[in-house]
Amino acid sequence: MSLVEIEHVTRRFGGLVAVDDVTTRVEQGELVGLIGPNGAGKTTLFNLISGFTALTHGVVRFKGEEIQGMAPHRVAARGLSRTFQNLRVFPNMSVFDNVSVGAVGVMGQSALGAVFGRRSKADAISARTWEALERVGLAEVASDLAANLSYGKRKYLEIARALAMKPDFLILDEPAAGLNDSETAELARFIRSLNADGLAVMLVEHDMNLVMGICSRVVVLASGRKIADAEPAVVRADPAVLEAYLGVEE
Ligand SMILES: Nc1ncnc2c1ncn2[C@@H]1O[C@H](COP(=O)(O)OP(=O)(O)OP(=O)(O)O)[C@@H](O)[C@H]1O
Ligand SMILES: [Mg+2]
Repeated sequence: MSLVEIEHVTRRFGGLVAVDDVTTRVEQGELVGLIGPNGAGKTTLFNLISGFTALTHGVVRFKGEEIQGMAPHRVAARGLSRTFQNLRVFPNMSVFDNVSVGAVGVMGQSALGAVFGRRSKADAISARTWEALERVGLAEVASDLAANLSYGKRKYLEIARALAMKPDFLILDEPAAGLNDSETAELARFIRSLNADGLAVMLVEHDMNLVMGICSRVVVLASGRKIADAEPAVVRADPAVLEAYLGVEE
């Protein structure tokens, strides 16, 4: 059994087929890239997997359980968390509170509170939040307002919120967008380290060097369809992939 099984997943918006009969898998501990030109359907596929958008057709299984049609918080509680292409940071809340939203979101839905009592639940949320902040290097600025963080740090704040859910599968939508070369290299090392700790990751990125450099497999979408699904060296040399990017790449 694969960690994530995506079968014949399709999403139509009126006459547009944003994601068209996509089938792929993610194995336990894998680091997979998802690339494709603008409008290829990458974010839509992420939304379909994480419960933010309803499928028109198809099946998504996570740890063997069908999760299509499940609300996002229920999907997250099962261990699948994500970040967003557009940052969702609450600027007037502290860094700590921004991240604890992730832990609360999951634990609020679980039976933990009923079993261990309110106090223990608050302690557990706090512990998860601190752990996530430490992991991304934001523990020292936990009480700062999120508005005071640099753009680069806000990206880590978003990742910390996802990590506070203690996921087994993390979906990252363009985490390097807007970062400079050295920030991108640091992010690459960070994603690798998360993966080395056993976390399965699916990464949407336009930065080819980043994707090809850290992913063991790359899935390519074009106009909603999967046109390649192979190791980076094979994808790089695939004529269908080159054609999909013609006129798009500089
Ligand atoms: N809610 C929606 N309603 C209508 N059309 C949508 C909706 N969401 C996405 N689309 C369309 O579906 C297609 C795929 O969009 P999507 O955002 O998934 O692409 P993407 O690969 O993430 O692109 P980018 O690289 O620009 O982020 C686009 O044509 C987009 O306009
Ligand atoms: Mg997108």
